[in-house]
Amino acid sequence: MNRRRFISNSLSFSSALLVPSVLNLFMGPGRAHAHHHDRPAPAPHPHPPSPPSRTGPTGPIALDFELQAVPESFHVYSDRATEMWRFRVGTVTAGASQLSHIPGSFLGPTLELRQGQRLRVKFVNSITQASIIHWHGLDVPMDQDGHPHSVVGPGDSYQYDFVIPNRAGLYFYHPHPHGKVGEQVNRGLVGLLRVRDDEEDALGLPADENEHLIALIDRRVNADRQFEYMTGGGHDHMMGMHGNTLLINGQTQAPLKVKRGWQRLRIANLSNARIYNLQWSDGRPLSIIGTDGGLLESAETRQQVLLSPAERLDVLVDLSKAKEGDQLSLQSAPLVAGRGSPFDLIQLHCTSEIGAAWTMPQTLCRFDRISESEAINAAPGSEKIFTLGISQQEGWTIDALPYEPGIVRAKETVRFGDTEIWEFDNSGTHLPHPIHIHGASFQVLSRTSGSFTGAFDLGWKDTVLLLPGDRVRLIKRFNTHKGDFLFHCHNLEHEDHAMMRDFRIL
Ligand code: C2O
Ligand code: CU
Ligand code: CU
Repeated sequence: MNRRRFISNSLSFSSALLVPSVLNLFMGPGRAHAHHHDRPAPAPHPHPPSPPSRTGPTGPIALDFELQAVPESFHVYSDRATEMWRFRVGTVTAGASQLSHIPGSFLGPTLELRQGQRLRVKFVNSITQASIIHWHGLDVPMDQDGHPHSVVGPGDSYQYDFVIPNRAGLYFYHPHPHGKVGEQVNRGLVGLLRVRDDEEDALGLPADENEHLIALIDRRVNADRQFEYMTGGGHDHMMGMHGNTLLINGQTQAPLKVKRGWQRLRIANLSNARIYNLQWSDGRPLSIIGTDGGLLESAETRQQVLLSPAERLDVLVDLSKAKEGDQLSLQSAPLVAGRGSPFDLIQLHCTSEIGAAWTMPQTLCRFDRISESEAINAAPGSEKIFTLGISQQEGWTIDALPYEPGIVRAKETVRFGDTEIWEFDNSGTHLPHPIHIHGASFQVLSRTSGSFTGAFDLGWKDTVLLLPGDRVRLIKRFNTHKGDFLFHCHNLEHEDHAMMRDFRIL
C-alpha cells in the first residue's frame, strides 16, 4: 500500500475541518497537551459503587480458561520482533475447541461461543499496569463488564463467569483501565469474540473457509519495527492515534485467496482512532447483512460505508461468476470526497476452486424494532441530550465534563425497565466521534447529517458514529442489568482524556 496515501487519508476530516484555534488547545507551546499526557491515571475510586448482588450462573461451562495479558516479543515482521503486550491463553479447563487463532496474528484468541453458553475466564494481569477486560457489545452484569473500577494490578487476576446473552454477531474484547485504554490496545491487547445462534445457523451463510474475520488495525510502526504511541504530540491528542501502517488482523497485508462463490466478510474496526470508508474496488455495492449486534432484517446495499472504531459490518460478496485469477479489493475511500484517493484494505484473489452456492433470502431474521412510543421520554423535545465538547482544562468532554469515576448525574440515571431516547450532539467539536454505550445494544432513530454522510445506522448498534456537526437520536432499553455502566467516545485517545461518563440503572 502507498504509505503516503494512507497517512494523508487519515487527515481528511482534519484538513477539511480543523479550526486552527481548536487544534491550538492541544498544541499551544508547551501547554495543554503536556500536562494532559503526563496526568497520571486517576487512582481507582475510593468508594467504587458496589455491584448489585446477583447469583452467578449455574449450569455447564462451555468455555473455561485463563486469559493472560503478557509482555511478549512478536514477529509482525519477519526481520525483527515487535515488543508488545498480548492476550495469551493459559490453562484451559473446558472448551479448548472454542478458542481459535488467526494464524500469524497478534490478536488474542478468538472466543467462539453460542448464545446462552456459559463462559468462565480468569483474566491474569502480567503486564506492568493495572488492567481489566471489557467484552465489547456483550450485555453482561456490571461486575462482568470490565468497568475501570474493577481494575486489577500487576500480578493479580479477575474471575469472570457469565452467560452469553447476545444474539449471533461479531464482538471483541479489550482492556478498560481508565486513561490507559489507548496505550494498552496500541501495544496489542485486543481480540475477537464471535457468537452464533440458531437463527443465524438456519440461514446457512457461507462458513468455514468462506467466512473471514477482518480486523482493521493501524499502527505507527517505526524503523525498528516497534509500535509508537502518541509520538505526534498535540495532533495525536486531537485526532486520536493514527498509524502509518495498516495491519489487517495485526499482519502486514497479504492477499486473501478465495473460492469462486459467496464469501462472508466479518469486518471489525479495531483501530484506536482511524475511520475507514469501505467500498469495493470494482464499484459494486457493499451487500450488508449485519452490524454491531448481528443480523439486519434484510440485506442492504450501499456504495460506501463509514466504519468507525469499534463498529462492525457483516458483508457478503458473490464471486460465483468470477474467473480464476480475478481480483477484487475491499478499499477505504477518502472520508471527505475528493480529499485523497482510495487505498486497498484487503485483496481477494479468486482461486480455481468452486465455493459456496447460496441465495440471499428476502428476510434474514425477525427484527425486533423498538418503537419510539415505548420510550418514557418519547414526547418531542424530551430526549436526553448529551453534548460532545472540548475544553482547554478538561480535554474531551460530555456536557463539558470529563470522566468522573463514580459520579453520576440525575440525567445519567435510568430506571430499570425503562426505554429512553438519548441524543448526542456533535455540533461543537468539528471532529468525528464514535460513541459507544455499554450494556444492551441500541437502535439509531435519526441523525441530522450535515455536509457529511455515509454512516450506516441500521440494526442493533453499540457504537454510533457522530460526524462533525451531527446530532444522533437513539433508543435503548435498560431492562437487563442494574448498576453502573459506561458511555464514551471509542476514539481511544478521546476516551482516555476523558470523553466518558458513567450511567446508572437503578
Ligand atoms: Cu469497546 Cu467501553 O469499550
Ligand atoms: Cu463496550
Ligand atoms: Cu471522540
